[in-house]
Amino acid sequence: MSNELDSLVASARQAFVEAATAAQLEDAKARYIGKSGRLTELMKGMAALSVEEKKTRGASINLAKQAIEEALGARRQSLADAELALQLQAESLDVTLPGRHREPGGLHPVSLTMERIEQIFAGMGFDVADGPEIESDWHSFTSLNNPPNHPARSMQDTFYVDINGDDGIPYNLRPHTSPMQVRYAHAHIKKHAGKPDMPEIRVIAPGRTYRVDSDATHSPMFHQCEGLWLGRNVSFKDLKVVFTNFCRTFFEREDLALRFRPSFFPFTEPSAEIDIQFQQGPLAGRWLEVAGSGQVHPNVVRNMGLDPEEYIGFAFGMGPDRLTMLRYGVNDLRLFFDGDIRFLRQFR
Ligand code: PHE
Repeated sequence: MSNELDSLVASARQAFVEAATAAQLEDAKARYIGKSGRLTELMKGMAALSVEEKKTRGASINLAKQAIEEALGARRQSLADAELALQLQAESLDVTLPGRHREPGGLHPVSLTMERIEQIFAGMGFDVADGPEIESDWHSFTSLNNPPNHPARSMQDTFYVDINGDDGIPYNLRPHTSPMQVRYAHAHIKKHAGKPDMPEIRVIAPGRTYRVDSDATHSPMFHQCEGLWLGRNVSFKDLKVVFTNFCRTFFEREDLALRFRPSFFPFTEPSAEIDIQFQQGPLAGRWLEVAGSGQVHPNVVRNMGLDPEEYIGFAFGMGPDRLTMLRYGVNDLRLFFDGDIRFLRQFR
């Protein structure tokens, strides 16, 4: 091989080694053995040589070409190796790291109570209904025999929304689930319109409710569950049976005592607070208020679109948050709404 070829090979090797990337390497390759690379040009120059010269010149150019291709192949390989090494490093897996812990989820204790309430009442033939949390003034108050300026309105300090209803009165965040009494009755009547005999209304309506109240036993957002049973011959005795059965099943205590204590609500007459008493455990002997109740007021029956001479029944409203506290022995209502995983985990 001539000196010229030797130095060409040497400079190609040098160029390949200096190529830091595959793209640079391909550029370098083109400069030597590409279509118009330096070695290719030398081959083209052979045309003018004699047959004898072509042989020896051709042989040495071929040798040079082989040497360059070898160097190119080696550099390609080493660049590929380096890239792989980098990639492996980037994706390296430290098998000594502790595993990622995924805890099973669970239902919130109040959700557990809600499900339990729904199950027990479903067993007594009650439908479960859902209603809006942003309510009209008529549904939250007036339809429940509690018109504007009625003193009973001050029983609840209510949140109002910055939007007026058709009556010009702002919407409210419902302070109780009682608006569901009239809402459900309307839907029920509509559903059975035109049929010979309308079935009794038997429904519970659990959901979120809001009041301007905040301490260890009151939260501005809390839960209620409304109950309504309206028919042609439904009495206070039925309320006692249904609610006693519910409480004993809910707390799994056959010896649970119930007391109906006279009270006032504009939408029931007569009205009663329902207190329960455990015979065992840390709360034994104490009377604990769990619900408001009463016989549905004739004005409310009328607002449902029914004749109070024909339809009679009872309603109650209970606090699932309170029931959850009693069932699990939780002493601060706020724990339910803080979202502290250490607290919630215990109910999983
Ligand atoms: N709505 C009442 C309250 O929030 C409870 C209640 C419901 C009372 C139904 C009587 C009948 O205090």
